[in-house]
Amino acid sequence: MNDIITNCKLKNGFGPGVQPAAAASPTKRPLSPDHPNPALPITETPSPAMNRMGWALRTLLVADNSSCLKDRKVSGKLIRKCAPGTELVDWLVNLSPIVHTRAQAAGMWQALLEEGVLTHVNKEQPFKDKCFLYRFRLDEEGGAPAAGIPVAEDLNTANEYIREALSTLFQRGPDATLRMILRKPSHERTPEELELVFEELVHIAALSHLSTSIKRELSSIIVFEAHTQAGTILFNQGDEGRSWYILLKGSVDVVIHGKGTVATLKTGDDFGKLALINDAPRAATIVLKENNCHLLRVDKEHFNRILRDVEANTLRLQEHGKDVLVLERVAKQRGQHSAFKYTVMSGTPAKMLEHLLETRLGQTVSGMDPFLDDFLLTHIVFMPVVQLVDELANYFHCDAHAEAQTPEDREYIINFKKRVIHFMQKWVMAVRHAAFEEPSVCDFIEDLAAEVEADPDLNEETSIIHNVLTQMARYQEDRNQNAGQKWKLPPNGQPICLFSGNATPSKTVIRPDDDIIFRVYCADHTYCTLRFPMHTTAELIKACAADKLQLNRGPEDLCLVEVRSNGERAVFKDNDVSIPTGLSLNGRLFVSVKDHLDALTPLQEQECPTEGVDIDLEVLSTKELAYHITLFEWDLFWAVHEYELLYHTFGRHHFGKITANLDVFLRRFNEVQYWIVTELVSTPSLSKRVGLVRKFIKLAAYCKEYQNLNAFFAIVMGLSNMAVTRLQQTWEKIPSKFRKIFQEFEALIDPSRNHRAYRVFVGKLQPPLVPFMPLLLKDMTFAHEGNKTSLDGLVNFEKMHMMAQTMRTIRFCRSRSLGLEPPSPKSEGEVRSYISSFRVIDNQRILTALSQKIEPTRKV
Ligand code: CMP
Repeated sequence: MNDIITNCKLKNGFGPGVQPAAAASPTKRPLSPDHPNPALPITETPSPAMNRMGWALRTLLVADNSSCLKDRKVSGKLIRKCAPGTELVDWLVNLSPIVHTRAQAAGMWQALLEEGVLTHVNKEQPFKDKCFLYRFRLDEEGGAPAAGIPVAEDLNTANEYIREALSTLFQRGPDATLRMILRKPSHERTPEELELVFEELVHIAALSHLSTSIKRELSSIIVFEAHTQAGTILFNQGDEGRSWYILLKGSVDVVIHGKGTVATLKTGDDFGKLALINDAPRAATIVLKENNCHLLRVDKEHFNRILRDVEANTLRLQEHGKDVLVLERVAKQRGQHSAFKYTVMSGTPAKMLEHLLETRLGQTVSGMDPFLDDFLLTHIVFMPVVQLVDELANYFHCDAHAEAQTPEDREYIINFKKRVIHFMQKWVMAVRHAAFEEPSVCDFIEDLAAEVEADPDLNEETSIIHNVLTQMARYQEDRNQNAGQKWKLPPNGQPICLFSGNATPSKTVIRPDDDIIFRVYCADHTYCTLRFPMHTTAELIKACAADKLQLNRGPEDLCLVEVRSNGERAVFKDNDVSIPTGLSLNGRLFVSVKDHLDALTPLQEQECPTEGVDIDLEVLSTKELAYHITLFEWDLFWAVHEYELLYHTFGRHHFGKITANLDVFLRRFNEVQYWIVTELVSTPSLSKRVGLVRKFIKLAAYCKEYQNLNAFFAIVMGLSNMAVTRLQQTWEKIPSKFRKIFQEFEALIDPSRNHRAYRVFVGKLQPPLVPFMPLLLKDMTFAHEGNKTSLDGLVNFEKMHMMAQTMRTIRFCRSRSLGLEPPSPKSEGEVRSYISSFRVIDNQRILTALSQKIEPTRKV
């Protein structure tokens, strides 16, 4: 018996209860997973009803002559008024006709035991229908009347009470038995007990999506945990995730640092799997809202083994009754140690940022996480830079109002700060100079740098913030150097070019405050020349042009419109920006009275080819042409920022941001395409035409070899233009070898099955490469038009992910610099100036007419 007397080693599922210091102030507590002990009570004090029930049963037992309740000696020590479990069961079965089985009676005694009304003498056993000794709390505490028969009045009261309340105890029996089993270690659960647990699990909503076999597995490891005190912290935000919980009774508050209580979870809700699935710190602190909360718990090792791969697909996090983050389980990539994790489907901007900072920016995370990258590439759609900086500053200064900090608090807060610094590093990595364009970002970076300098705990972050500062300084230097760049849109349809500024024009980025010089016409074809920063709105250009051209009409009567060479008109929105770069190849800008739009006609010069260098193409080496075309286009491509794709897709006017670099690159595509057609239809000599077609096929082949797929597409599309394909006499004279190559090229640009042939081809290439930009824009538009940006008030992050994928393609293409071997130069300067400005007709009607002229349709 001595071993029974030894001290109880196991702790129950509730302890003294850790009080939250203040709802919003994080207090770390070392977590040791509890090992609930079924021999101990789950309440701190018995409920009045159970207390009374205990008194009544004891009174009757004591009054019973043949009572089993006796003083007994256990290991030499006298234990007053105790009885073996078996005899207590016998007595209860005999007491009332509602108790039919011994198991029912044992359950009823367990219900008393779990509230501490009855205890095992050594507090080592739950109630068992065995010879273990139990006694009433009253006797243990010495609060019971001394030995002797209870007075008649007490006996009557006890009998009365038993008659009324025994059925309540009877009903409590099965639940108490179940809780007892759920507090036993797995290896002590008998097959019958496991069956009981399984039957219970079947009715738990949080598990309803799980298969029977999984529920059976859970039966042996799921644990019951009770906490008596409201205010107990179950775990803290930032803690390591150790368990997943289901709330069986009571409620808990979800508390987030700096926000306070964001949600209250109730009976039936579950929580805590986010940290387990993502291997991330706890996203919130869980505080008990009521006394006596009951929970089911699955510890991490079992969760990972049984549940991780089959857990519910969707997880919705709420704050103040509204969804703030919707996550979906996805398969992880190879190499990661577990098969699944959660990915963000939708969320509020602020919650997504918080989730990102807390799950993706721990020190252990290296490289660029896709969620982080998606966010950095697309946040401008749903979270303007100013708001992002505000949120980051709040997060960084989370200790601003904190009182005295313990070392644990300090560590916790330092982690917050580190995350913000790491975020800044990744931000600059992801979007480069665009991160510095907003002055508030630069101010914030400087503040951060000062904080890092002043805080020895942030020592390790010094090099990171210095690196960011260096990049910022470089950006500012570059900006100052290139300040005052001027561009021009030449009058005769030549490409947009630098007018004054940078001495080395290659890789020159067009900036929003660069000026551009351009003409604006009015209906009678008179014009004015304007000079405005790129980001000037259509409204301002319109007003200024109207003034200069003396239109004498209010701005509401006027519009700014492009007249294309084929006569089509496209009206600009008042808040549109980068207007001149957005024009088509041979388009012209007009200011017009709204009601007279129909009267606008193209200028005579728009009917002619744009101005280009006049040269005999035959004398230029095809490889050299391809080489210089590729270098030229690489520079244009290089200047395009990923953000421009977003501005282009959502509409520049939404952001007030220019798309000038993208515009110029897209214009170039059209220029090359129409150059091919223009050259062919303006070559009357059949033999020269045949030579030209062969040259263009070879040119396409070289561009493909140089991985300039933008030019490759443009050339092949030019050759496939109706005005060219109809030149039967020419094609008949093309050797079959060339025709075959051309057919292969046509197959590669075939748009069917969403450009599958091209996608497969390009998927095998390594950078550097110039991609076929119109397809990337098509993908962006497809993602944009096929998916709402906002779903039930949350940002549809799946859409952002789709768009970021396309934006990443651009980054991939440029991830290595272009280092082409130059073909032995013959006429380098000549070729370079030729390819930078082609002679182009972009009016299909005129091209077809010229084609007809050189090869009239044969009569059949
Ligand atoms: P986990 O991060 O593991 O631990 C805290 C838990 O709180 C979290 O998982 C979610 O299950 C739960 N929770 C509920 N609402 C929120 C919320 N709005 N933000 C963060 N966590 C929440």
